[in-house]
Amino acid sequence: MQERPITILGIETSCDETAAAVVADGLIIKSSVVASQVKLHEKYGGVVPEIASRAHLEKISQVVAEALEQANVTKDDIDAVAVANQPGLAIALIVGVTAAKTLSFAWEKPLIGIDHLHAHIQSAVLADEDLQLPAVALIVSGGHTSLYDYESPLKPKLLGSTIDDAAGEAFDKVATILKLSYPGGPAIEKTAQNGNPKAIKFPHTMLDKNSLDFSFSGIKTAVLYYCRGQDMKGENKVDSMSPQQIADIAASFQKTVVDVLVKKTKLAAEKIGAKTVLLGGGVAANTLLRTALEQMCNATSRKLLVAPKRYCTDNAVMVASLAYYKFKAGLFADLTLEPKAYSQ
Ligand code: KG4
Ligand code: ZN
Repeated sequence: MQERPITILGIETSCDETAAAVVADGLIIKSSVVASQVKLHEKYGGVVPEIASRAHLEKISQVVAEALEQANVTKDDIDAVAVANQPGLAIALIVGVTAAKTLSFAWEKPLIGIDHLHAHIQSAVLADEDLQLPAVALIVSGGHTSLYDYESPLKPKLLGSTIDDAAGEAFDKVATILKLSYPGGPAIEKTAQNGNPKAIKFPHTMLDKNSLDFSFSGIKTAVLYYCRGQDMKGENKVDSMSPQQIADIAASFQKTVVDVLVKKTKLAAEKIGAKTVLLGGGVAANTLLRTALEQMCNATSRKLLVAPKRYCTDNAVMVASLAYYKFKAGLFADLTLEPKAYSQ
């Protein structure tokens, strides 16, 4: 008799997307529903935690119901309920965690707590199940920039992370300085298409030459000084700049960030002798980053696995997929599961 697949409902509310998905055996995506809050945060140029939390609360029941309906399953087909409980905005995470605990209790199904960043790695693993180890994973999102030594889905080891701004945060802040639309990453990428990446020299902050940590606040400040002058007393020159000048700033900034990300990933790959490089997180949607990493991997005989674009930004497929491995390992949470702002 063929075994019934392990079917998991995943829930994600760590930042500004309310998401639910049903995934069978870690790889078969039966549904994925994402309610984006971009419109709500647009006018603030960044995610406002209280607004995010309230919007999650309004949407969560409907999003979960849709995920079950699209997957054509009922609670009886679900083997476990998984939720991203760390890291993220605590008052946003709590909505998903409370929903997952409630469903787990009411349906009498096991509960699984998932690290949101480990789930981002999983979205790259989804691209090819037969990945060759050792692998290095670069996770670049709005809140995080981290390098991992990926030994298995359950054991990613942190090698380095940002000491200040995350890469996506830098994209978002520079987009605000350049008066581009929100979210900043896609807006910078689009504007940069017409720009010269060599037009302006922004600092490539590498920290110590062997360091696998990142720092992006210096690059962001350099763009700010470029537009406002060193003393910050001048007018923001952006209003009087030509579209070409703005495109040149966007292209030069993007190239600087990508150069740093690729150099550090190469260093990490050399350090652990990686055969594979995994790329995930919202900034992984950036074409220049994908291409530059691809070139680095080709030149160093490594395989690059990139999360499919729709699973780069926050989603619950990556949560339900990773939860399958925790399910098989018997790593369940109980009703004391709490949202945590930082990974623990
Ligand atoms: O992973 P994600 O959806 O949320 C967090 O966990 O933070 O990432 C969102 C981030 C935002 O900062 C957004 O500007 C950035 O990903 N992003 C991009 C692109 N698309 C999204 N950054 C650069 N280029 C893009 N095409
Ligand atoms: Zn994320």
